[in-house]
Amino acid sequence: MISAIVVILAYLLGSIPSGVWIGKLFYKIDIREHGSGNMGTTNTFRVLGTKAGVIVLIMDILKGSLATLLPALLGAEIHPLLAGVFAAIGHTIPIFAGFRGGKAVATSAGMLLAYNPLFFILSISCFLIYLYFSSMVSFSSITACISAMILSLFFGDLWLILVTFALSSYIIFRHRSNIQRIRNGTESMIPFGRNYKR
Ligand code: G3P
Repeated sequence: MISAIVVILAYLLGSIPSGVWIGKLFYKIDIREHGSGNMGTTNTFRVLGTKAGVIVLIMDILKGSLATLLPALLGAEIHPLLAGVFAAIGHTIPIFAGFRGGKAVATSAGMLLAYNPLFFILSISCFLIYLYFSSMVSFSSITACISAMILSLFFGDLWLILVTFALSSYIIFRHRSNIQRIRNGTESMIPFGRNYKR
């Protein structure tokens, strides 16, 4: 029973559409109608600017972390990573935003931060290195997912391996439109790293 409550709470936490709510509340726009159409951190930076982007990044990371800590907080049997996965699903199919959600990169990072900080730091380091060389958040997210899958194999934790492979594959799948734009050479870049074309 308590595990089912954790699953529902994790999904509801993940469903909090930070980017959509901040956009509508403070800027009177739905960020899903602008930029890449995504409701995540990158598009919030792109459409609403740094302040909103930082707030959404923190909120989306917290959603994943808090959901992952729920089993311990509520004394539930369910594995923490499973709770984190439900937060990621909530972010991508949010009940509070018409089930039109994001790609779950920051929420999944929050899950890793709460579950295994070393694995989080290694995965984020990969992401930042790829970002430095590509200046493309989407490319860096995809390649960091691939790196995380490989890295997970060295941690001797079957749950971590299974969840990393499942969630990474799902996140890459959610980047279908980005992959198309990368192939076409039309993916947008951020002003960071050595490859940024000013
Ligand atoms: O976290 C999502 C990111 O990898 C890509 O975002 O807005 O460029 O599709 P966006």
